[in-house]
Amino acid sequence: MQRVRKAVIPAAGMGTRFLPATKAVAKEMLPIVNKPSIQLIIEEAADSGIEEVILVTGRGKTEIVDHFDAHPQLEEILRRAGKEALLREVLRPSQMVKISSVRQQRPLGLGHAISCARHLVGNEPFAVFLPDDLVDAKRPCARQLIDLYERTGKSVVALMNVPRAETSSYGIAAGSADLHDPRVVDIKSLIEKPAVEDAPSTLAVVGRYVLDPSVFDWLTRTNPGRGDEIQLTDALAAMIQAEGLLGYLFEGDRFDAGDVTGYLLANLNWARKTPRIWTSLLQYVDTHRGSEGDGG
Ligand code: G1P
Repeated sequence: MQRVRKAVIPAAGMGTRFLPATKAVAKEMLPIVNKPSIQLIIEEAADSGIEEVILVTGRGKTEIVDHFDAHPQLEEILRRAGKEALLREVLRPSQMVKISSVRQQRPLGLGHAISCARHLVGNEPFAVFLPDDLVDAKRPCARQLIDLYERTGKSVVALMNVPRAETSSYGIAAGSADLHDPRVVDIKSLIEKPAVEDAPSTLAVVGRYVLDPSVFDWLTRTNPGRGDEIQLTDALAAMIQAEGLLGYLFEGDRFDAGDVTGYLLANLNWARKTPRIWTSLLQYVDTHRGSEGDGG
């Protein structure tokens, strides 16, 4: 079984749910406490054993690539000032994984974005991380999927149960649970953002995938689907019969950082890890509880 060493991160989206903040700033650069959210994604990738990340970017996203590059001038200033802890923080993003990037020239959909990375992935299995989905887990979410891929040789998608009313916001899977491991689902069908009444289950695809490179061939045969875009979900649905597809009900807490409320909850979640910040936040909430909607 080939090891999963590479990951593709599609980051070309415009972030319209976050306007006006994302008019001139890439949504992936909005901070979770003191790190851009994309850094949490790449930390998860590195902690999952990924060695090489391919960012699929678009216009206005060069700052993401800059963030993961070295910054010798800033490093020298911090070194001279003896600010060792800050220096380590500045060096870290450029040392975690090898990063390359490719531009998606037109917004033709998630499936199209993934196929833009084909020449850099080559003929080996790879992970996909959707940067809106942040997952806080003891064992990194992508690692959980990679372990299953390396055990079975089948492509794997992360799954989570959602309220039925939310099924129309996700790819929805239907299948049967594995007898030996109730977290593993043998997927029989997959549908992108079905109407609530058409959803075959409440099992939603979350933005982590481990894919066989054959997905690139399936993508070339995939016609535009929902939203007139080439959907990754449709290519995976086509793969099921020929190659099989597994779902994994991962352990961990997932936050939708592409949505304002989800983003603020993610900030609270990661702020909780720094007692000094968390204490101040709790004090603020205690003082202001009951004053919702007050101006000023
Ligand atoms: C994408 C996928 C969808 C998946 C979701 C998870 O949709 O197309 O299948 O359930 O990510 O976050 P998006 O939210 O990017 O529209």
